[in-house]
Amino acid sequence: MQYQIPRGTYDILPADSHKWQRIISAFRELAGSYGYREITTPIFEQAGLFERSSGESSDVVKKEMYRFHDRKGREFALRPEGTAPVARSYVENRLDLVSNHAKLYYLGPMFRYDRPQAGRYRQFYQYGIEFIGSNHPYYDAEVISILWHYLFGLGLKDLRLELNSVGCPNCGQAYDAALREYYRPHLQSLCTDCRQRFELKPRRLLDCKVPTCKEIAVKAPIQLDYLDQTCREHFAGVQGILAQMHIPYQVNPGIVRGLDYYTNTAFEIVGGQLGAQNSLAGGGRYNGLLEQVGGRSIPAVGFAGGFERLLLMLEADQAPMPAVPVPDVYLAAIGETAQQRAFTLINALRLAGLYAEFEPDRVSLKSQLKSADSQKARFALIIGEDELATQSCILKDLQSGEQRSLPLEPLADIIAILKA
Ligand code: HAM
Repeated sequence: MQYQIPRGTYDILPADSHKWQRIISAFRELAGSYGYREITTPIFEQAGLFERSSGESSDVVKKEMYRFHDRKGREFALRPEGTAPVARSYVENRLDLVSNHAKLYYLGPMFRYDRPQAGRYRQFYQYGIEFIGSNHPYYDAEVISILWHYLFGLGLKDLRLELNSVGCPNCGQAYDAALREYYRPHLQSLCTDCRQRFELKPRRLLDCKVPTCKEIAVKAPIQLDYLDQTCREHFAGVQGILAQMHIPYQVNPGIVRGLDYYTNTAFEIVGGQLGAQNSLAGGGRYNGLLEQVGGRSIPAVGFAGGFERLLLMLEADQAPMPAVPVPDVYLAAIGETAQQRAFTLINALRLAGLYAEFEPDRVSLKSQLKSADSQKARFALIIGEDELATQSCILKDLQSGEQRSLPLEPLADIIAILKA
């Protein structure tokens, strides 16, 4: 093989594309029913956008970003996530002037240079929601409810919503101090990355996957104990509304999220079947981000999930998936004149909204019917010299084998039978 697909990427082959179409259109429909509108941003942005917002202390930005310089030496990055680009677009396009509340959703590829494994890719496809314009806990619950209903609506079963509050910069300071105090005696046992995290952003210490660091993290102080009054009330508000919405959740103080912009609510949807990459989707509030990317201080909350993990879970849960589409009708033409007629007929059938198949390079009726069978077409519409002479056709039900002769005109009558 001369060329191969880049590591950590994949092709969506025709045999699977209908599954992708299903989960994409279900997301669009559901988001639309909550009043969210689609926003599409470029797949690359100035690298600085992610450094400023997603965070210099996060692995996603520090280690996993695909960076490149263009011909004029400007530094760009393939987007590792969608929230910062949406915030940039909101500010740049003055969407705050359009409405107090921006309800946005997006779909598209993201890029992270990580070690590929099941459910983890270097190019992956995210669906995401961002609500910009209010700090009311209702909106935290609203975006969670979109995610929850999306995943259950697709037929997933074993899901858990894990919820935490990471507080605001005000309570974050007290928490960072407590973390430093706890970690100081353990500094020598920490990995090199964690020693840097200790200085830069102690909360990242809780994220480390190195076994010794993980062990030390078990007894570390938790953010929830350091929330100030406002943040505590906000968190209680979110929990109260989720309860009203009958959305079950578990408070997990271990949810810290891998990006730096979070304030207050942080959540993940975890699926039992996913193994190491068990986070199906995640998100939270990011009240400081809009200001960080140059806008006014506007509160916001959102989430994103990866379609790859979703498909893995749908398969594991044996959730109902749409069948591969099959032709409504296979048009079989025998002989030169019939084939000429078929060129017109096939278009008329397709324009009527039918999935109609025709293969002029198959000459014999036998070969055409064999192909119709292997494609699992519902009907065969057969025309030959005899039929054309009488302006008729043979309509064969390929499941029952039953066939009848019908007038070719008006075609609407045949179409009605095919659509029934
Ligand atoms: P994130 O947790 O980094 O958050 O990613 C969200 C989801 O994207 C994950 O739960 C996972 O399903 C999927 N994902 C992440 N990395 C990979 C990968 N390498 N391969 C396959 N799937 C992956 C964000 O991206 C935030 N922007 C979410 C957000 C929106 N927060 C507020 N608004």
